[in-house]
Amino acid sequence: MRKLFPSYIRVPVIFFIIAGFVEYFVESGNQPAFIEKPVVLVFLLLVLVILLAMEGIVGAMENVLYQSLDEEAKARYDAKQAEPSKLVLWIKTTYKNLLGSKPIEEEGEIILDHNYDGIKELDNNLPPWWVYSFYITIIFGVIYMIRYHVLNADDQFTEYEIEYAEAQRAIEEYKKNAKDLVDFNSVELLTDIADLKAGENIFVAKCAVCHKVDGGGGIGPNLTDEYWILGGGIKNVFKTISEGGRSGKGMVSWKKEGLKPSEMAQVASYLLQFQGTIPAEPKAAEGEIWIDPTSTETDTDEINTEDNPVTEDTEIVEVAEN
Ligand code: HEC
Repeated sequence: MRKLFPSYIRVPVIFFIIAGFVEYFVESGNQPAFIEKPVVLVFLLLVLVILLAMEGIVGAMENVLYQSLDEEAKARYDAKQAEPSKLVLWIKTTYKNLLGSKPIEEEGEIILDHNYDGIKELDNNLPPWWVYSFYITIIFGVIYMIRYHVLNADDQFTEYEIEYAEAQRAIEEYKKNAKDLVDFNSVELLTDIADLKAGENIFVAKCAVCHKVDGGGGIGPNLTDEYWILGGGIKNVFKTISEGGRSGKGMVSWKKEGLKPSEMAQVASYLLQFQGTIPAEPKAAEGEIWIDPTSTETDTDEINTEDNPVTEDTEIVEVAEN
């Protein structure tokens, strides 16, 4: 049986196809899979060894068979091996047909009868590859004209706008499903009643033991005043909840305790509603008055009333009853 390619082409080609598949299907982040996961490297080496072994075995078997042939059969086999393969023949003839040039021996038929100082001209046909390309451009042109100038399909600007709008929609959709992607840099104060309600549930279940249900403070500091040990505002509060307080103080990292980023954003937004309320047994203020650096106001009193619209007991109760 004739082989299409010699083994020094066959083995690398098969190997790289397999390696490509592995790279495509194994999740490995930015690094190539065989660097990220040593198992992959081992697997690829195994594949290589098996391929080489198979080549070796097939080669050896062929050799044994060849040696067992008589002289005449050997000669026939050699002759068959020396023939060019069908694929190579096909490529050769197709290439020649597409060029469409006359072989040198037949050039006499197409020579033009002028002669400038020994320079003569051949009247070759247009090469078929060129002619076919030209036909293709004609067909393309007709389709293009009908599509864009008769049927008035969307031009590139409209197509761009449609795709842009689609991407925008995809981003919105993604953001909706990706609430857990927030960190203390990107977190925003949540105002949605459902989020605040969820935050309240978390607060009552996990935080009230130390901070009291009304945020008045116990083991943990008072959360209703404008004094903060670790910084106020949604971003700092989120960070404190996520990473924990100063070590040894009792405020653990809730990220490690299994609160999801979305839940930490909810409870942070909820507890910021305590700002300005009067708890039953307020703990003495700790830390410093926190001024929002992004706010243009300098008067802290105004910040409290304007940046935190929910400042009255009644509104918190309203959330609680929902
Ligand atoms: C075991 C008691 C305990 C629990 C439970 C607890 N905290 Fe704390 N919390 C503390 C202590 C103590 C501090 C002060 C940390 C410090 O001084 O570094 C604190 C600090 C804070 C602060 C920063 C206050 C400031 O002034 O900067 C926030 C915000 C906070 N906790 C939110 C929460 C939330 C939300 C939960 C529930 C998910 C929670 N805590 C659960 C004990 C607790």
